[in-house]
Parts: sequence; structure tokens; C-alpha cells
Amino acid sequence: MTSPSVLITGALTGIGRATAYAFAEAGARLMISGRREKAGRALLWELREKGVEAEFVRADVRDDDEVRKLVDAAVARFGRLDAAVNNAGTEGTVGPIVEQSAESYAATFDTNVLGTLLCMKHEVRIMLPQGSGSIVNLSSAMGKKGAAGAAIYAASKHAVEGLTKSVALEVASSGIRVNAVAPGPTNTDMIVRFTGDAAGADSLGKSLPAQRLGEADEIAPAIVFAAIGKAHFLTGHSISVDGAFTA
Ligand SMILES: NC(=O)c1ccc[n+]([C@@H]2O[C@H](COP(=O)([O-])OP(=O)(O)OC[C@H]3O[C@@H](n4cnc5c(N)ncnc54)[C@H](OP(=O)(O)O)[C@@H]3O)[C@@H](O)[C@H]2O)c1
Repeated sequence: MTSPSVLITGALTGIGRATAYAFAEAGARLMISGRREKAGRALLWELREKGVEAEFVRADVRDDDEVRKLVDAAVARFGRLDAAVNNAGTEGTVGPIVEQSAESYAATFDTNVLGTLLCMKHEVRIMLPQGSGSIVNLSSAMGKKGAAGAAIYAASKHAVEGLTKSVALEVASSGIRVNAVAPGPTNTDMIVRFTGDAAGADSLGKSLPAQRLGEADEIAPAIVFAAIGKAHFLTGHSISVDGAFTA
């Protein structure tokens, strides 16, 4: 595939941003998306200055119409959609189960689960008539095990795993691949919010098998491999990139 066209949600920070740069290095054309117009334009110009063919569209992944317009804009700009990375996510309100509510549940599930579902709905709509395409959803190590104090987040990522496998089965005969990448604790703004502060993130890192957090640019190559690598029979799976956290 020469110059694949790739859509990335939540591309303005952390793993999404590192993924945008990793795809750029692989020669991809990029539709980057996020909720913040100014930060989106800033990343767009950074990429374009490096010679990357890129576009930015603001979209909230919880909104069906905004996701439809985002996916359609990628196709209008590049003529097709070869790969999509559904990376936008939130840790929600971390804390004990007795402090959770319908609102904290919805605030997490609406982005992590409904958002992934809506993105896949529109991406598959485009990829089916193409007869090809590759989708990568961002799961988490917490989508494979429990997480004390982060039950809603862990449950939302278990749901992402279920959506990934189910849609992969649904489209397996149509030339579309659907996989997930499941990072372990990774050094981004999310892990700092998760643990309370930078010192909390640092001490979490020291408690891990690798005695450190992962870095976003150590997760991104696995996403690029799953999305546009040559393992064309890889579909319906979730690749752990977690420094042996779930081993
Ligand atoms: N860091 C980790 O330890 C870790 C581990 C496993 C999995 N993950 C997953 O990796 C993905 C990226 O996380 P990260 O660590 O890079 O954290 P991050 O820097 O907070 O990135 C999350 C991105 O998603 C965007 N986003 C949130 N809600 C959105 C919505 N409703 N619509 C559109 N965009 C939205 C955020 O943009 P705004 O600025 O608009 O909020 C932000 O750019 C997430 O799915 C996360 O669950 C992270």
C-alpha cells in the first residue's frame, strides 16, 4: 500500500499524538481529530511543516453526526480510508465503587465505548464498499484484568475488547481487519490524572514489572503494525504492549 490514508481520533495528545508521528514516518496521509480546534490546528501545521499530507477535523466521538462528518471528510480529502485508529478515551472518575454513579458511568462509557462503536460504524460504512480497511481500537491492560478503584474504566475497556472481536468476526469475509492494542500504564497526561500527580505516576511506574511506565512512542509502533503492517491475516485480536504487566 503506498501512502495509506489514516484517521486517528484523540490525536492531539499522548498515545494518539505519538501515533500520528509514527504513521507520518511510515509515509501515511493523516486525518487527525480531537475536540480542541486550536490544539488540532497547531498539530496540523507541525505535521505539514514536516511535509506530511494532513488534515484536521474537530469531532467529539460521542456524537454520531460529528463522527459521520469526520469520516466523510477523510474520504473527501484522501479519496479512501485505509486505516483508522480509535484512540480517543477518558479515564473518567477514578475511585471506589461506592462513589460511582450513573453520571460517572456515562461519562466514561460514552467516550470509550459509544465513541468506539460510532467510529467503527462509520469507518466500516466506508470500508465495506472499498473491500478493504484496517481498524485499531485502543483497549488497555485494564481491559484484560480487573483494576481496583478503576472499575468503570476497566469495564469500558473490556467492552472495547468485545466490540473489537465482534466487529472483526462480522467483517472478516469483507477484507476489513479489526484489532485492538492494549497498552499497560503509559507516561501520558492520562496516567498523571489517574494517579493524582507526577509523583504518583512515577511511583506507579516503579511498581511495575519493568520498573517504569511505557512511553507513548513505544506504543505507537504496535498500532502502526496492527493497522498497516503486512500481517494481513491478523484480525480479531488484541495486542498487549505492557512491559509484561499482564504476563
Ligand atoms: N496512558 C495510559 O496509561 C493508557 C493505558 C492503556 C490505554 N490507554 C488508552 O490510550 C488512549 C489514549 O490515551 P492517552 O494515555 O494518550 O491519554 P490522553 O493524552 O488523555 O489522550 C486521550 C485523548 O482523547 C481525547 N478525547 C477524550 N474524550 C474525547 C471525546 N469525547 N471525543 C474526542 N476526543 C476525546 C482527548 O482530547 P481532549 O483534550 O479533547 O480531552 C485526548 O487527546 C485512550 O483510549 C486510553 O484509554 C492509555
